[in-house]
Amino acid sequence: MDRRTFIVANWKMHKTPEEAAQTAESIITSLSSLPATADIALAPSFPALLTVAEKLKDTPFLLAAQNVHTEPQGAFTGEISAPMLKACGCQFVIVGHSERRQYSSETDSLIQKKIRASILNKIGPILCVGESDAQRNEGRTFKVLDKQVREAVKGLSVTDAEFLILAYEPIWAIGTGKTASVDQVQEVHAFLRETLADCFEKDLAKRIRILYGGSVKPSNIKELIALSDVDGALVGGASLDPETFVSLIRNGL
Ligand code: G3H
Repeated sequence: MDRRTFIVANWKMHKTPEEAAQTAESIITSLSSLPATADIALAPSFPALLTVAEKLKDTPFLLAAQNVHTEPQGAFTGEISAPMLKACGCQFVIVGHSERRQYSSETDSLIQKKIRASILNKIGPILCVGESDAQRNEGRTFKVLDKQVREAVKGLSVTDAEFLILAYEPIWAIGTGKTASVDQVQEVHAFLRETLADCFEKDLAKRIRILYGGSVKPSNIKELIALSDVDGALVGGASLDPETFVSLIRNGL
């Protein structure tokens, strides 16, 4: 089954709107022709969504947000809704990133509501799952991932799940320079695909893209993307500098 390669730049809490627009412009200019089989998305911070959207207009590049609220509107000071993201031009949103689970105490049930809100607004949720160092060392990796996936997709129909993207991000590999080995990555991605098949159906599981994230860089993208169940990458640090990100994309595609 052919799945389009998907590389997503997560700029986290970096770059002002002007800096983000400049970075987007450099990336677009350097990659004037993208292979037809690949999607590239940029996920700037909320204040930079509109300036980046302006640069991405009339290009094949896609826009993603880094978080979303569960409700469409209301008295939720400081929050951003899925309809607002849609109005800014977002096609995707990162949901359940481990940094949000850790620093903002996001639970699986909150993440499930965010996924539903995104899909209701036809925004593809990029659901992040991943185990900590301690959980891996204790042999609990698959149990942890199984729970994260099943609770997050609870209640989704097969039609809803067509919007879903999964990202496996072992916490111990994020921003540490320590990438999971190709064997570890393939083993987990195959497990995640089986879990999706069990939650939905086999054919759908074969269509859902599963990205890897955690210290992806120009030097390791090729071997990661070559794995049969890896369909792309969610890139943090190596997406901040346009030259580095462009070479990562060139090496990966
Ligand atoms: O969303 C991206 C991940 O947290 C990976 O970040 O590439 O800096 O390790 P990193």
